[in-house]
Amino acid sequence: MSDNDTLKVAVIGGDGTGPEVAAEGVKVLKAIAKLEGIRYELEDFDFGGDRYLKTGEILPAGAVEQLGRFNAILLGAVGHPDVAPGILEKGLLLELRFTFDQYINLRPVKLYPGVETPLAGKGPDDIDFVVVRENTEDLYTGMGGFLKKHTPDEVAMQTAVYTRKGCERCIRWAFEYTRKRNRRKRLTLVAKTNVLTFGHDLVWRTFQDVAKEYPDVEPDYNHVDACCMWMVKNPEYYDVIVTTNMFGDIITDLGGIIQGGMGVAAGGNINPEPGGTSMFEPMGGSAPKYTGKGVINPIATIAAVAMLLEQSGYEKAGGRVATAIQQVTGTKMKSQAAGKMGYSTSEVGDLVCEAL
Ligand code: IPM
Ligand code: MN
Repeated sequence: MSDNDTLKVAVIGGDGTGPEVAAEGVKVLKAIAKLEGIRYELEDFDFGGDRYLKTGEILPAGAVEQLGRFNAILLGAVGHPDVAPGILEKGLLLELRFTFDQYINLRPVKLYPGVETPLAGKGPDDIDFVVVRENTEDLYTGMGGFLKKHTPDEVAMQTAVYTRKGCERCIRWAFEYTRKRNRRKRLTLVAKTNVLTFGHDLVWRTFQDVAKEYPDVEPDYNHVDACCMWMVKNPEYYDVIVTTNMFGDIITDLGGIIQGGMGVAAGGNINPEPGGTSMFEPMGGSAPKYTGKGVINPIATIAAVAMLLEQSGYEKAGGRVATAIQQVTGTKMKSQAAGKMGYSTSEVGDLVCEAL
């Protein structure tokens, strides 16, 4: 798999409704590839809760090498009712993010036409910004431990790690992205410099330094708590936000709900380096209660495919998928909620293909 003109995508359907939504993503990927003359290879991997319960392994030996041969991974969902919370999230999702050094977590917050937002008086023109979440550091590295565990004197430490390199590569990518997006040209750093006076001091100084290389981009700063208020009150203020891993996790759930919920919110875990393997996913979970019913919304996964194309060098194709999604939400779907779309999961996939 060494040729450069073939898009190689590994599909991990995963748990619950994951395989159902991934199938619609693949359907749309095949349709746009045909229209745009994109050569592709697709391969399915059965990693997830069921396989773990059978074999005791989450990522079997050789899995990382196998996946590393692909440009991108399309991930349906992780989370299985019979597996304790955290095991699959850590063993599959976080493992892949870290192993493939996917240091950018790109989460657009965009209200598509026809989609309802809980924010009164706000529409698609107001809710259209992008969060760049650092994806390999902060509280997510797993550094820490216990002292005197299970005693009355117990101590637990969970260490937030920030490196100059880790901050810099993410912040620089965010500046580049803001320049390329070419909207308000404002990059807002979201952190908590008034309390996290070591870690976020490093983040802040790095941001100031990199900003000098981008005189055409307005560098801006919000504390994370204030950002949560503004995202609700004045979402139109934002263009691009760059933030740390944990805060990015939290504010992108807020972002997900103001853009119409988990049925539409997509994310990309990106390793932008040449030869990097990136991973694209709907932000929603495995929704066990809807599994196999054909009622889950595949729009988020299809939006993840649009992002996969854009980030893999197929910008026109990605843009066409994004436009098709907006036609379907704007003119066909009754709601973005599972079971209320007016169509089944696979009919929504068909509608996007028709709109293409
Ligand atoms: C997300 C999820 C993950 C995270 C969990 C499942 C580990 O919430 O992708 O936002 O915290 O990053
Ligand atoms: Mn999250």
